[in-house]
Amino acid sequence: MPRGTSRRRALADPDVADGKTIMELSQDQLEQFDTEGWVFLPDVFSQEEMDVLSGELPTIFAMDREEVWRESNGEAVRTAFAAHFYNEAFRRLGRHPRLVGPVMQLLDGPVYMHQYKINGKAAFDGDVWQWHQDYGTWARDDKMPEARAMNIALFIDEVNEFNGPLYLIPRSHKGGVIEAGHDLETTSYPLWTLDKETVARLADEGGMIAPKGKPGSVLLFHSNLVHASAPNISPWGRVIVYLSLCHVDNHIRQFKRAEWIAHRDFTPIEPLDDDCLLELARENAAAAE
Ligand code: SIN
Ligand code: MN
Repeated sequence: MPRGTSRRRALADPDVADGKTIMELSQDQLEQFDTEGWVFLPDVFSQEEMDVLSGELPTIFAMDREEVWRESNGEAVRTAFAAHFYNEAFRRLGRHPRLVGPVMQLLDGPVYMHQYKINGKAAFDGDVWQWHQDYGTWARDDKMPEARAMNIALFIDEVNEFNGPLYLIPRSHKGGVIEAGHDLETTSYPLWTLDKETVARLADEGGMIAPKGKPGSVLLFHSNLVHASAPNISPWGRVIVYLSLCHVDNHIRQFKRAEWIAHRDFTPIEPLDDDCLLELARENAAAAE
């Protein structure tokens, strides 16, 4: 079936009734992604859907397992990796058509999950994410052949100007992989980071934005887009989930990092029905009766 016909709908259209609908980005959104490197979509998930996900966070963040990575203070959760392997709500989110569909459209084909993170950015204790490009890490550490992979992020909490929004440098994805150093000191998590001169030059050219919005908002950004986030000294937590999806042909070639950081199952994701989270809410409610 050709693109843009009845099976698919623009993400701008919130009226999705048919469970098998795969939504897609509009032409304007595709053009913005190409030129600016990012697209922000408010109101993609309802409050009821967000409640299903946020209700699982206390359990996940309390887990004593290696995937749940703490900040340098040893307590606050920096990132819960690979929650789609050990939590049903996040398993469904990892196959949600409103997240997987637009990325399949942008990457033009089937995708697998390269990485899955619930980033905590805890109130008062959430630490910095230094300036970096995600594909820089995927290329250097995982030998991913091309930047044919990307993030789609879902705001679980409101993201505001105080609680460590992502800073993006528009258009910085156009220059390919930029030289970086491997920072093992600044935070609890190793990262390939850019130097100050490079960030200053790119920000002079492209400016800077910090997308903010309610729970249920979605942010897509190119895997070469330069980004960072400041520490969260506010009293408000800022949980964001990131699906890092990769075209199946572009799977990683090196298996140096833990499997739960850089996944090795390259099976194409089959999106679930659009109401998969609401279905879980119904199941949970029935089980509680
Ligand atoms: C990331 O860049 O991978 C995470 C940034 C953040 O959650 O603040
Ligand atoms: Mn990143």
